[in-house]
Amino acid sequence: MPLSPSHPLSDGRTANAPLIRAYRGDRPERTPVWFMRQAGRSLPEYRELRAGGDMLQACLTPELASEITLQPVRRHGVDAGIFFSDIVVPVLLAGVDVRIVAGRGPVIDEPIRTASDVLTLRPLDPEALDPVREAVALTVEQLGSTPLIGFAGAPFTLAAYLVEGGPSKDQLRARSLMHSDPHTWAALLNWCADVTGEFLRAQVEAGASAAQLFDSWIGSVSQHDYLRRVAPHSKRALGHLRGLDVPRVHFGLGTDRILTDIAALGVDAVGIDWRLPLDEASAVFGDGMPLQGNIDPALLDAPWPVLAAHVDSVLERGKKAPAHVVNLGHGVPPETDPEVLTRLVRYIHGELPD
Ligand code: CP3
Repeated sequence: MPLSPSHPLSDGRTANAPLIRAYRGDRPERTPVWFMRQAGRSLPEYRELRAGGDMLQACLTPELASEITLQPVRRHGVDAGIFFSDIVVPVLLAGVDVRIVAGRGPVIDEPIRTASDVLTLRPLDPEALDPVREAVALTVEQLGSTPLIGFAGAPFTLAAYLVEGGPSKDQLRARSLMHSDPHTWAALLNWCADVTGEFLRAQVEAGASAAQLFDSWIGSVSQHDYLRRVAPHSKRALGHLRGLDVPRVHFGLGTDRILTDIAALGVDAVGIDWRLPLDEASAVFGDGMPLQGNIDPALLDAPWPVLAAHVDSVLERGKKAPAHVVNLGHGVPPETDPEVLTRLVRYIHGELPD
């Protein structure tokens, strides 16, 4: 089933937006910029709206999720909204007891560690995604010609939370399961691929103009294991978008060793973390892959001339790639001064003197 005629990419609203043109390999006059984790705790208006309410409940309340998604677009003038949700939302909707602990991340009190644990995992009921569809529809109505990016967690990163029961340093338990019981591992990753893939598909069908897969913790896996035990499942997750012609973007931390394997997933653009200069990343792809990134979040509180010089270097190195969407090399830290982000957008758009 293709995108509906009223989808923002079909009816002309977002097809020529700088973000979409760049993801498709073009260099629009205005360099597009958005920030991973642009919605959230760096914004006082977010803290006010959330005011102690439950994070995952906020994600599933369409008016609230939509308003939080729009806040950074209004404030900063970024070239995209990213849907306010979390990678564990589809896991919750499939019936797994997961909560978000502030300052820590997703926590699962009964981790999934054995073959019989995996057997307890149920498929996601398509109707459970209705609040997601509704929130996306409300949001794109307001966004007009600014594209909304839909996103999902990649199977490895999701499985890491499920097996570990929470955030972990190097995903040791998850990687142990991968080797000690490859069949259970494969069944778990297939389940993750299907719930996360349906979550992503629901966002795109409801109006998201691009789809980003976050494999945040993939840096702990060797290239050999990535190819054999992970990449086929990431491919399966993206396979849920079949028939939907939206740009697909991949982001992970510490992906230096697996960049060509990521390209082989069939994505249109690749996000790079702050450690790998964009010209070096581009060379790995034979200078043929649109890149996204990679301002170091650690520089957001540096004196402006230091930050601006770093941004100049990111922009210069990004010229090696066929197209460049400016972003951070990871998410906005919660203590970031939002005025710095607004200033960055204006600077990248060429609206500020050097
Ligand atoms: O603005 C946006 O980027 C959209 C919203 C978004 C959230 N999570 C909201 C959120 C996105 C894209 C995510 C993705 C996500 N969630 C990832 C991949 C991106 C990355 O950062 O690597 C991961 C690994 C998660 C899991 C997760 N959820 C973490 C690590 C945390 C942070 C815990 C903390 O308090 O520091 C969360 C919670 C979370 N997700 C918050 C937000 C705004 C903070 C909780 C709150 O506001 O109460």
